[in-house]
Amino acid sequence: MKTVKFGIIGAGLMGREFASAIARWCHLADIDVRPEIVAVCDRNVALFPWYTGHFASVKQTTTDYREVLANPEVEAVYVAVPHNLHQEIYIAAIEAGKHLMGEKPFGIDMSACKAIMEAIRKHPEVMVRCSSESPFFPAAQELCDMIEANSFGRIIEVNTGFLHASDLDPEKPINWKRMIEFNGEYGVMGDLGMHACHVGFRAGWQPRNVRAVLSDIMKERPDGKGGRVPCKTWDNSTLLCEAINPIDNEPFPWTIKLQRISPGQKNNWYIEILGTEKSVRWSSVQADVIEILEFKRGQEQGWSHIQTGFDTAFKTITGGIFQFGFTDSIQQMWAAFVYELAHGKPLKRYAGCVTPDEAWLSHRLFTAALASQRNSSTEAV
Ligand SMILES: NC(=O)c1ccc[n+]([C@@H]2O[C@H](COP(=O)([O-])OP(=O)(O)OC[C@H]3O[C@@H](n4cnc5c(N)ncnc54)[C@H](O)[C@@H]3O)[C@@H](O)[C@H]2O)c1
Repeated sequence: MKTVKFGIIGAGLMGREFASAIARWCHLADIDVRPEIVAVCDRNVALFPWYTGHFASVKQTTTDYREVLANPEVEAVYVAVPHNLHQEIYIAAIEAGKHLMGEKPFGIDMSACKAIMEAIRKHPEVMVRCSSESPFFPAAQELCDMIEANSFGRIIEVNTGFLHASDLDPEKPINWKRMIEFNGEYGVMGDLGMHACHVGFRAGWQPRNVRAVLSDIMKERPDGKGGRVPCKTWDNSTLLCEAINPIDNEPFPWTIKLQRISPGQKNNWYIEILGTEKSVRWSSVQADVIEILEFKRGQEQGWSHIQTGFDTAFKTITGGIFQFGFTDSIQQMWAAFVYELAHGKPLKRYAGCVTPDEAWLSHRLFTAALASQRNSSTEAV
């Protein structure tokens, strides 16, 4: 089995999810490549013992990402740091010749993303992708197969979104994801937007324009030290796009809802496609159930509910009847990254990580959405 030696830069929540997925790589049944962590970088040294205690392969721990990039053993890096650092560290990694899995939003704003895109253009020898795991749920994969097979007839409308309720509590102390200087002007769009765009962008649904309504619901939060500070990031956003289906060049409305304050929701990633021949909907709340409605002339229209089990893009040792979860989707996404690195192309169209071009399109959309909110207007994307 081929091994890809990784450095993790930003060893927090997502860095550990990656490491945990590697720890049970034996779960994947027939993949011929595996990642191995050899270096870990974070400003917070308290995170290191978890890595060194669980992974004998980790030889380097450092608070300076440049030391990881100077390590000749490191072939690829996963950079999972606050958004204000994406531009600097992604570009440094690309220029050091390291393959890169970046995180969304792939630059804090459009000009940061543009600078990253420039570096990518100058270094075609380096593979760069952006993380987004949700399409790897088996039900989402089945939905993607339906897009690929052009099953819907004319698309009537599409609704996608990502909903949390974690910020409904006004006493939740502020953290970097709620601070404009670290998270960026996009606010919730930068945090959750890629999840709701990945499948549609991969399908080639090009948003032509957008009317956005953005909400700043919690205007201040506890600072964690006994005081309160302004909280200036957008909490919720609803984007109504006119999108074009490249199959028939017909327009359709695509509504993208991204909310950190959606009462009752913990982690609801959903996608619904309504078409003249078939319709489909799926939500991570009932992750193994896909709903399908087929139009048959003269017959009642009813949704069928199908349990999808563990039918994954990258085959695993788990029996096909069992339920799939978030940590499985992270592992599938990492399998997609290393598979594409080893084989030069994704296993299949919808089993590939977000490309830089798709990340760039998300910046065009979110930047247009900010202008739409500012001007109360519909903006070209
Ligand atoms: N794909 C997903 O589902 C998903 C989920 C959550 C977050 N994210 C994204 O992942 C990225 C990181 O988010 P997170 O939730 O892991 O955040 P986190 O706060 O848990 O981790 C970020 C880490 O970066 C470290 N850091 C800060 N400055 C640094 C520097 N100069 N050098 C090295 N390390 C530094 C911090 O100490 C922290 O440990 C963000 O881009 C975020 O949008 C993706």
